[in-house]
Amino acid sequence: MKFLLVTDLDNTLTGDNEATLILNQRLANLRGGFYLVYATGRSLASFGQLQQEFAAATGEQLLEPDYLVTGVGSEIYHQGKKDQDWATRVSEDWDRGAIAHLLKSFPTLIPQSQAEQNPWKISYCFSSFNNLLENSLDNSQIINNLRSQLATANLTAQVIFSSDRDVDILPQNSGKGLAVTYLMQKLQINPQNTLICGDSGNDITMFEQQTLGVVVGNSQPELLEWYRTNSSPNHYLARSPYAHAIWEAMNHFQLGEL
Ligand code: GLC
Ligand code: MG
Repeated sequence: MKFLLVTDLDNTLTGDNEATLILNQRLANLRGGFYLVYATGRSLASFGQLQQEFAAATGEQLLEPDYLVTGVGSEIYHQGKKDQDWATRVSEDWDRGAIAHLLKSFPTLIPQSQAEQNPWKISYCFSSFNNLLENSLDNSQIINNLRSQLATANLTAQVIFSSDRDVDILPQNSGKGLAVTYLMQKLQINPQNTLICGDSGNDITMFEQQTLGVVVGNSQPELLEWYRTNSSPNHYLARSPYAHAIWEAMNHFQLGEL
């Protein structure tokens, strides 16, 4: 029976080219035995850049995924085509204009480039200047304020905070975690045959599903903190970093009869 491997890209599958190459080769040998999904914060175009950079640096290609979850789970692609059912789901109860307007009252949140915005994702980053201001609130207090102001204004949205810097605002029905559950249903794979892999805050919603999960050894403090307070026996904190951690977890959970 096939298993489902869902991995974040930056600082999980990629980040250490040598580790990625070793894993890529091992996975290529098992390729008929599993479905592969990349779940990334990047846009489709930015994923293309990563593929090119990896190929230029190593002379090898990243494996072609069966599905690509981009923009922190705001979009899903299959063979280059956007999943329209997903687009319909995530459009429910989402008032992008009103949310973007409310964000104008948060001057320390600077909009990311236009290329990182899409109809279901509004992304900001904290101005590094904020930390220098006297009496400035720390970043997580500002996130809490933002969540409560959205609630007060009756605007439903998820606020995803990663790497103490990036802030993504997404529809309630989107996110990497719900995208994984949607794909498990589509592919008819059960949670105990699904492994999700991540390193930072935008991966937490994946860990909240009922699947197996690996927190890579080089993870960001917010994910390590989540692991300390919320993890279950389905979750594994790897000793090794980057792509090595994915193989370590596949062995730990005995996926693919390695
Ligand atoms: C990626 C995306 C960015 C997002 C970040 C965290 O870097 O490009 O838009 O804020 O992931 O989710
Ligand atoms: Mg990452």
